[in-house]
Amino acid sequence: MERDELLAALRLQMEWGADEALAELPVDRFAAPPPAPAPVLPAAAPRPAVVPTLAAPALSLVPAPAAAARLAAEAQDLAALKAAIAATESPLRDTATNLVFADGNPDSGLMMIGEAPGADEDRLGRPFVGVSGQFLDRMLASIGLERSRDFYLSNILPWRPPGNRTPTDAEITLFTPFILRHIALVRPRHLVLLGGVAAKTLLRAKDGITRLRGRWHRMEGEGGVSWPALATLHPAYLLRTPAAKKDAWADLVLLRRTLDGRVTPS
Ligand code: URA
Repeated sequence: MERDELLAALRLQMEWGADEALAELPVDRFAAPPPAPAPVLPAAAPRPAVVPTLAAPALSLVPAPAAAARLAAEAQDLAALKAAIAATESPLRDTATNLVFADGNPDSGLMMIGEAPGADEDRLGRPFVGVSGQFLDRMLASIGLERSRDFYLSNILPWRPPGNRTPTDAEITLFTPFILRHIALVRPRHLVLLGGVAAKTLLRAKDGITRLRGRWHRMEGEGGVSWPALATLHPAYLLRTPAAKKDAWADLVLLRRTLDGRVTPS
């Protein structure tokens, strides 16, 4: 195969979610099976001594979250925070194309937080620009909210997980100090948590999104400050599950009423 064909095949594997090489040499899974092991020695053979084996220390590619927390805490504005995220080593950073930091109006008072960028967001470096983001924009337009004016968007993870897989606990732990700092710098009046990963992470909840959605919670932020946070269903889930749209609509109505001062978050 030519070099550009090999590179295209590699890119496709990364699209499909392969983010690490597991062995130095490829494994031919169609090759004939290895010969059966030699027969066991007769019972009279001396038993081999049991030699304790030392487990190799686990290799961690994820830097200590404490270092990430320190970097996040040092950021005094959004530009510094973005630079701190870009400087934080992570396997996700190596497979992604662009850092996806935020979009919309940071002074709007309303901040929405999703899970992680997808392929379109990774390509363009902006959150919620793909199919589910466009659907989110249309839902919010139905209650009079427009991205460039009325809300601001970010994600728990700033880099796309290969193949859009669900973020691991280690990835969420590494990047949580950055989103908490992001919220502290933006100081929104209200937060909307889109989907289970954002809601469970920021509310430190064990319940799933179907239990958390539809009501205001208090999200404990940096330095003991708490923020009103509405949990709702993720737009990608709504696209897959049209029957859930009525619940999302109820959440949007609650948001609109809250923004209009007709409901006070608990
Ligand atoms: N889904 C998310 O959670 N965030 C994005 O930015 C895009 C899709």
